[in-house]
Order: sequence, then structure tokens, then C-alpha cells
Amino acid sequence: MIIAPLDLAAAAYAAADVMTAAFGLTPAEQLQRRDIFAEHARHPGLIARGAFDGPHLAGFCYAFPAGDRSWWERQVHPRLASVGAASWLSPTTLELTELHVHPHHQHRGLGRALITAVCDASPATRVLLSVRVESAAARRLYTSLGFEELTTPFLFGGTPPFYLLMGAQQPLRR
Ligand SMILES: CC(C)(COP(=O)(O)OP(=O)(O)OC[C@H]1O[C@@H](n2cnc3c(N)ncnc32)[C@H](O)[C@@H]1OP(=O)(O)O)[C@@H](O)C(=O)NCCC(=O)NCCS
Repeated sequence: MIIAPLDLAAAAYAAADVMTAAFGLTPAEQLQRRDIFAEHARHPGLIARGAFDGPHLAGFCYAFPAGDRSWWERQVHPRLASVGAASWLSPTTLELTELHVHPHHQHRGLGRALITAVCDASPATRVLLSVRVESAAARRLYTSLGFEELTTPFLFGGTPPFYLLMGAQQPLRR
């Protein structure tokens, strides 16, 4: 297994397959994800890494600089502002957008290797992400890397599941 740069546009289908297996997405959500990944592939400052088992994508992680006033940022801004943390939405913050490892390949250190590879490749001074409250494995991983909870749980667009925001200073803790 190797961690290497990921061409997100070319790998949009494979990445959606990994996310579908990791999160149990519906077929409709899987199709929507392909489109989102293809769009995110054009984002300025994108940093994407994949975990490759030969040609097979086992996991992936990508991020880009914050401050683009995207739908995600418009959702999280009031949450951050309410705790005096709106300054996290600036280009010196890396917005960790996706991290997923196929269930067949979890618990082997790939999640940790992917997120640290992406963050190490960025000059950003801090990293921001949203995590599902129920994703215990992800929250444990993030906490071990130095992430702290910035907000209480909230809903994106009023729809479950609950998420919370976590932030860490760079470089991530090892
Ligand atoms: C969160 C996620 C990315 C973690 O991926 P992963 O590859 O399993 O992560 P790691 O292997 O680095 O760490 C996970 C656990 O495996 C353990 N581990 C790592 N290497 C190991 C090894 N060689 N042997 C045994 N255990 C190991 C870690 O200590 C960690 O243990 P913990 O959960 O008790 O803290 C993965 O669970 C996932 O895709 N979940 C579903 C989607 C999701 O929640 N994504 C995050 C969205 S914010």
C-alpha cells in the first residue's frame, strides 16, 4: 500500500465507491458525490492523496484553503462566530474536506497516514474539519492528532446526522 498524490478528477468514481462503502451512501448519494468530487477537483489549492493497493484506491483524503465562502462555509460560519472562532475561515486555514478509508482496509493506519500526508503538504497554520458526532473512530483519530472540538453538535441544513467542528494547529501531533 502506498500513499501518493491523487488525481481527484480522474478518481471521482473510485473515490465515490470508497465513500459509499465507508459511509453506506445510497446510490443517489453516490452519484451526487461523483459530481461533487469532479467539482472539487477544480478547486484552487487542492491537496489530494490516495492510498493505493496497486491500481486499487483503498482510501483518500483531500483539502483546500478556507475562505472561499462555499456552501459548507456559509453553514459553519454562524457556528464558529457564536464561539468567537470565525477567524478559522481564512486562507491560512486548511479545510479538510474528505477522509475515507474502505472498511476492508481500516485499522491499519491508512486514515492517519492520509490526513498527515495532506496536512504536511500544506503551508496552512491550522486545519478545520466537520465530523459526524456518531463517527467515534474518526473523532478518536482526530483527537490523537491534536484536533479539539470547536463547537457543539449541529445539523447541516437542518437534516441529520449531527456534526461538530474540530480544529488543530499545524503541524499535526504525531
Ligand atoms: C475515520 C477513518 C477514515 C479512519 O480510517 P483508518 O484507516 O481505520 O484509520 P487508522 O487505521 O489510522 O486509525 C483507526 C484505528 O486503527 C488503529 N490502528 C492503526 N494501525 C493499526 C494496526 N496496524 N493494527 C491495529 N490497529 C491499528 C488506530 O490506533 C485507530 O484505533 P482507535 O480507533 O481505537 O483510535 C475510517 O474509519 C472511515 O473511513 N470511517 C468512515 C468515514 C468517516 O467517518 N470519515 C471521516 C469523515 S469526517
